[in-house]
Amino acid sequence: MSNQKQGVIGHPNGTRETQGSEAPDGLPAAGAVEQQPLPAASVAVQEVSPSGTADAPVKAANDVFDPSQTDFDTVADAYDDSLPHHVMDHYLDKRAEFIRRHVAPGRVVDVGCGTGVLAARLSDEGYDVTGVDPFRGMLKYLKKRRPGIDAVHAFGQNLPFADDTFDLAYCVAVMHHVADPAAVRETVLEMTRVTKPGGHILIWDHNPRNPYWPILMKRVPQDTGAERLIPEKEFLEALHAGGARPIVVQPHSLIPDFAPRRLMPLAITTESIVERVPLLNRLCAHNVILAVKTIQR
Ligand SMILES: C[S@@+](CC[C@H](N)C(=O)[O-])C[C@H]1O[C@@H](n2cnc3c(N)ncnc32)[C@H](O)[C@@H]1O
Repeated sequence: MSNQKQGVIGHPNGTRETQGSEAPDGLPAAGAVEQQPLPAASVAVQEVSPSGTADAPVKAANDVFDPSQTDFDTVADAYDDSLPHHVMDHYLDKRAEFIRRHVAPGRVVDVGCGTGVLAARLSDEGYDVTGVDPFRGMLKYLKKRRPGIDAVHAFGQNLPFADDTFDLAYCVAVMHHVADPAAVRETVLEMTRVTKPGGHILIWDHNPRNPYWPILMKRVPQDTGAERLIPEKEFLEALHAGGARPIVVQPHSLIPDFAPRRLMPLAITTESIVERVPLLNRLCAHNVILAVKTIQR
């Protein structure tokens, strides 16, 4: 945990690494890049060298990617329409509001940023956001949305940033895709490592106690059955091991995808009541954990 990891990783399929001085999207590459053709609307996605350092050998993509996991490159075009927009907008507002309430604008990394909806919102609100995702198809949408946001092609288990870089490291709806317990732990440890002492780590993920997830997850294109809904205990243990202290551990949200737009005011009122009722709130859709990094290296 004390080492600074550098570099990473190619594509999850990990078969096409070649040497090159320029990434296929025209950006200089830091070293070996994977030659995956980019879509016509090319984007500048930062590639990082898989070389690593002597004391911190970097894993190849093949070592960390479970092939049964969703290939987000194939669902990237459909992702932003996978849930009704009024429901997505509601969750976007809730997440941005939570972050604003707890963390002042500063340097932020969105791990598993996907198409960058929240990254874009926070950037608009004055946060200096870096988006990280192992799927270029998703990063392409982030770059289209906000070309000024740094987009880094990497796995959460191996973040290509120095220790103590960010004021906030967060992930939303990512961990259940990382799924494997060791990989989840590594991702939390990495998020903690790259956070400055006194900075925040935010994990926002599906609550295994909510009975609706197994139904919804059968319908949306981004879920293949390889996901694992993760009890908050695992996050708390990993945060503790990384030197972070939880300050908020809360069940959040309830509004399902089928809530009609015209009933949103009622749904929002119901949601905020359920969030506040002990025991009942254990059925909320998401677990939200905010921690502060306490250790000083
Ligand atoms: C359901 S999407 C969520 C995207 C975005 N955070 C959001 O809230 O819309 C899950 C994201 O996790 C990313 N992901 C999957 N495995 C990952 C890993 N090991 N490390 C980091 N991100 C990962 C996927 O590429 C995808 O963009």
